[in-house]
Amino acid sequence: MNTQAGTPSSLAADLKAHTGRFTDKTFDWDAFPSNAGYADLARAQMRYIGAGGSPKVGDTSTMKPDHFTLSLIYKEPGKYAACHSHEIEESFLIIDGALIVGWERDGEVVEVNLGPKDMILNAREVGHGFRVDGVEPVLMSISVDVGKPLPPKYHYHPKDHAPELARSFGAEPGKTMPFDPAGDHPLQQLMGKYVVRHAEVPTKWEDAGFTRKVYVGAGGIDNDTCRKEMWGVPSRVGVKPFVRDVEDAFFVLEGSLTVGWEDEVGEQVEVELGPRDLVKTPAGRKHWFRNNGAGHATVWTVIGTAEDDGVTYEAA
Ligand SMILES: [Fe+2]
Repeated sequence: MNTQAGTPSSLAADLKAHTGRFTDKTFDWDAFPSNAGYADLARAQMRYIGAGGSPKVGDTSTMKPDHFTLSLIYKEPGKYAACHSHEIEESFLIIDGALIVGWERDGEVVEVNLGPKDMILNAREVGHGFRVDGVEPVLMSISVDVGKPLPPKYHYHPKDHAPELARSFGAEPGKTMPFDPAGDHPLQQLMGKYVVRHAEVPTKWEDAGFTRKVYVGAGGIDNDTCRKEMWGVPSRVGVKPFVRDVEDAFFVLEGSLTVGWEDEVGEQVEVELGPRDLVKTPAGRKHWFRNNGAGHATVWTVIGTAEDDGVTYEAA
């Protein structure tokens, strides 16, 4: 815990330091040095927790990561990201637009088209790239499931390969397969386990009166790093304070959500989040949420462990 217990001002200051406001941040068009000089690779990053795949770890406008990073990525039609891999899982949650994600192995590629609120968890050491073929730009939230990832390993970067091959993530003509979890190819079957369609995730109603769709964790993709869930919080619904052994992050996609903290002496502070605002609550901090708005809130939630942390949500 990193508060000085006792004084209300320190708790309020700490909550403010753990709040990332969309309007306080700017998109960084120079976050990825390996893209410099390649107009087709252009993308912008907005950092909330850690630096993700960017080496800009000294950025003071982003919070210190524990078990995961969280950033936004913006990419315009016609642009792509070269095929690369990481030592750890990385998720893409689509917020706006349609994104083609390709997984490559031995010159063969499977491509999936993801829409709003769909997610892919890029498996560790699997080559992946992405491309915007649609008519509108893509905004997505990326989380890497480790605080400080190693630099990506590039498989088909245009500095080493023909632009057409880099754009197809390493597939020669005829070597691209469609996404199909029931397909014959092992790469199709593998990717099938790591793609989450929002409409296909069961909606669980908590007794506390809000919904959870588990993307990663028990009931969703089985993984050993972090849990990721989409919550729907109706107007006037809230929960009692709860504590986790790890950090969590609430990133509002739609509506508004009030997040509260309580310290060791019972002092309470709150902050209201709007779309694309985030609160990261450190391990051990008592916290809660409530939707004071008239409309529902949709909240992307990332939790820094894959284990069941025993938290049950009680209606406030
Ligand atoms: Fe990646």
